[in-house]
Amino acid sequence: MNPFLTIRQASATYPVFVGRELLDRVGALVRTRGRVFVITSEQLRVRFGERVAKSFAAADIITIAEGEAHKSLSTANDVVTALLERGAKRDSLAVVVGGGMIGDTAGFAASIFLRGIDLVHVPTTLLAQVDSSIGGKLAVNHEKGKNLIGSFYPPRAVISDTSVLSTLPRREFLSGIFEALKGGVIGDVALFELLEHGGEIDVDDVVRRAIRVKAEIVSADEKESDVRRLLNYGHTIAHGIEAALHYEGLTHGEAVAWGMIGANAIAVRRGILAPSISARINDAIRAWQPSPLPPLDAREILAATEHDKKNTGTQRVMVLPREIGVCDVVSDVAEDEIAFGIAAALADGRPAA
Ligand SMILES: NC(=O)c1ccc[n+]([C@@H]2O[C@H](COP(=O)([O-])OP(=O)(O)OC[C@H]3O[C@@H](n4cnc5c(N)ncnc54)[C@H](O)[C@@H]3O)[C@@H](O)[C@H]2O)c1
Repeated sequence: MNPFLTIRQASATYPVFVGRELLDRVGALVRTRGRVFVITSEQLRVRFGERVAKSFAAADIITIAEGEAHKSLSTANDVVTALLERGAKRDSLAVVVGGGMIGDTAGFAASIFLRGIDLVHVPTTLLAQVDSSIGGKLAVNHEKGKNLIGSFYPPRAVISDTSVLSTLPRREFLSGIFEALKGGVIGDVALFELLEHGGEIDVDDVVRRAIRVKAEIVSADEKESDVRRLLNYGHTIAHGIEAALHYEGLTHGEAVAWGMIGANAIAVRRGILAPSISARINDAIRAWQPSPLPPLDAREILAATEHDKKNTGTQRVMVLPREIGVCDVVSDVAEDEIAFGIAAALADGRPAA
C-alpha cells in the first residue's frame, strides 16, 4: 500500500497512511527487527489495541489510564517502567493506539525512553487523525498548565484507519470536525465547503484534506514559529475559554469553534475580513452545533489569553482570516481587540433562551 502522503520535516521524513480497516495491516506497513510494544488504554485495548498487536508476529500490550488528568509525567513514567520491566531495548518499536491523549502521553514516553525509540502513531479519534498525530509535537500536562512538558519527536509512520471513527461518541467526533473546519479556513476552500452545511459528510475525504493542510504547514515549518502558527487560528480565545472553564464542560474542538468566531469578529473590526465571509464561516461552525458556552467572566478569559504560549513578550499574536483558505499571523493585536473578540464569542455562544 502506498502512503497517502509523506511528511518532510527538517528532522525526519515519514509516511501517513489513510484508509479503511488498516488496524490489521499495521505490522505489514511498518517493518521492524526489534520487539514491538503496543501502547493503548484499557477502553481501547480489545477493540483496537489487540487487532494492532496481532498484525505483528509478536507484540506486547501496555495500557495506560484515559483522561486529561492522566496526561502527565507520572503516566509517561509508568510507560517507561513498563517498557523496562518487559525488556524493551533501543531497537524496540512503540505503536501508540488511541486519541490525542494516549498519542501525546505514550508518544512522549517513547521519545524519552533510552533517549528515544521508534514511534508509530495509530490515531483513533478524528481529532488525533487530522491534528495531533501529524507534525511530531508531543506533550504532557504540568500542574501549572496544559502541554507544558514535551518534545518535538517525529514518528516513523502515522497509520489512520478511518473505519474506527464510527464508534466515536458524537461530541468527540465534533471536536475533530471543528479542527478540520479550522484547517479549511486556514488553507483549503474545498475542505471548508465539504463541512460548510453540517449533516452527512464523506469522512475519508475530510480526513485526507485536513491531514494535507496540516502536513503542508508542518513541512514548511517544523517548530512553533511563523507558518506553524497558522494552526492556532481560533486557539487564542479557545485557550482562554478552556482555562477559565478549568478544562471542563467543553471539548477542545468546541472551544476552538467559539474561538474562531471571536477571531473573525476581530478580523472584521480590523477591516481585513469581509462581514459576509465572517458570517459564512460562523454559519458553518453553527451548522455543527457546538455546545453553548457556560456562563463565563470575560475578564477571566482575557487574563488567561495572556499566558498563551504564542505571545512573545508583551505582543499579542493572533491568527486572523482574510478569506476562506487564507489566514494571516498578526503580531500587534491589542488587548482591547482581544476583549472585543471574547465578547463576540460569548454573545454568540450564549445558550438559546
Ligand atoms: N500533539 C499535538 O500536536 C496535539 C494537537 C491537538 C491536540 N492534542 C492533544 O490531544 C488531546 C485530545 O485528544 P482527543 O480529542 O483525541 O481526545 P482523547 O484522546 O482524550 O479521546 C477522547 C475519548 O475518545 C475515546 N476514543 C478514542 N478513540 C475512540 C474510538 N475510535 N471509538 C470510541 N471511543 C474512542 C477515548 O477512549 C477517550 O475516552 C488533548 O490532550 C490535546 O492536548 C495534541
